[in-house]
Amino acid sequence: MIIIKRFFIYFSAVLLVAACSSKNKNIEPWLEHAILASEEQLLLAAEAFADSAKNPRTYEHGAVELVTYNDWTSGFFPGSLWYMYELTGNDKLKEAAERATGFIEKAQYRTNTHDLGFIIYCSFGNGYRITGNEHYRDVMEQGALSLMKRYNSRIGLIKSWDPHVGPWQFPVIIDNMMNLEFLYEVGKLTGNQGMMNAAVSHADKTLANHFRPDNSCVHVVEYDSITGEVISRETHQGYKHESSWARGQAWALYGYTMMYRLTRKQAYLEQAQKVADFILQHPRLPEDKVPYWDFDAPGIPDEPRDASAAAIIASALLELNGYVSEDKFYSNEAIVILKNLSSEKYLAKPGENGLFILKHSTGNWPKNSEIDAPLSYADYYYVEALTRIIRMNRTE
Ligand code: GLY
Repeated sequence: MIIIKRFFIYFSAVLLVAACSSKNKNIEPWLEHAILASEEQLLLAAEAFADSAKNPRTYEHGAVELVTYNDWTSGFFPGSLWYMYELTGNDKLKEAAERATGFIEKAQYRTNTHDLGFIIYCSFGNGYRITGNEHYRDVMEQGALSLMKRYNSRIGLIKSWDPHVGPWQFPVIIDNMMNLEFLYEVGKLTGNQGMMNAAVSHADKTLANHFRPDNSCVHVVEYDSITGEVISRETHQGYKHESSWARGQAWALYGYTMMYRLTRKQAYLEQAQKVADFILQHPRLPEDKVPYWDFDAPGIPDEPRDASAAAIIASALLELNGYVSEDKFYSNEAIVILKNLSSEKYLAKPGENGLFILKHSTGNWPKNSEIDAPLSYADYYYVEALTRIIRMNRTE
């Protein structure tokens, strides 16, 4: 009840702002319900896992998997807490966000992963943006310096994986686009032009080599570590090398939309729109617009969905809409996705679903891992998208 009361006090303020801007918009019931349920679930999870010094990743076979700073997903739970704190002003969320962010501080020294954007920017990045805590800024700077160790200036790309993942010389995965915001923003913040240039170079090379003629993307491009030539185009988490892994398309859409925001390079905006069109016009995108885990999965319509891809796509479309302006096509599509994710089918009741917000994601189908399961990154991009809608309503 306290949470609900606080929520309504907050939204009274939002409504007041909206009324003053002469638009007089109301928060729609589905959005109100989505925010309330997410807040309650995040608070329950924060309390349940407070003593573990780890953050939740997924819920499988009746158990929650908790992870340390060594896992690529460890920044999403603190990031969700920061977003929800920003949305509601609930101090319990702030305390929880500070605690969960602190759990993964050691990630700043990791040089064996490209995932430092996911780990550090979602957690420390949001924390810094919201609180201005200078310690968070220092962690981000060290993290970005560590990430730069994976940048090969001769090839012009950040290496995604080390040999333990697969047999590649210099693999680059489409997911790696998501670490560029971290690198570029820390470069801007600390006056490190090399970081900003590396981010742009990585985006340019990925644009040149990851996309097919139909604007879908492959998961992994392997480069020759001496010459920088493309050796192969493969998948690791998709159905097959030629297929369109749903979350990979989502990372591409989000990545190029975000890189357009940072650089205003027209080619990035055009690529983001091409990917959006590939996704939204795909004949095998289900009616509720929550993709199957791979657009070419052989058993469609009896294949698992990937709510994480849907949440990433929705959040990206909300941003993309702001750059194309003539109509609200992309934001309307995003809202359809989010309304569906907020229905009983996908949105868990607080206290259920291992204390994760969304149901029905797919983590790694080829490994038979996290299939039809909750995932902390589905929750993160869903909550981010909710904050983007609220912001849009306040400023439109
Ligand atoms: N490696 C990030 C993902 O599974 O999408």
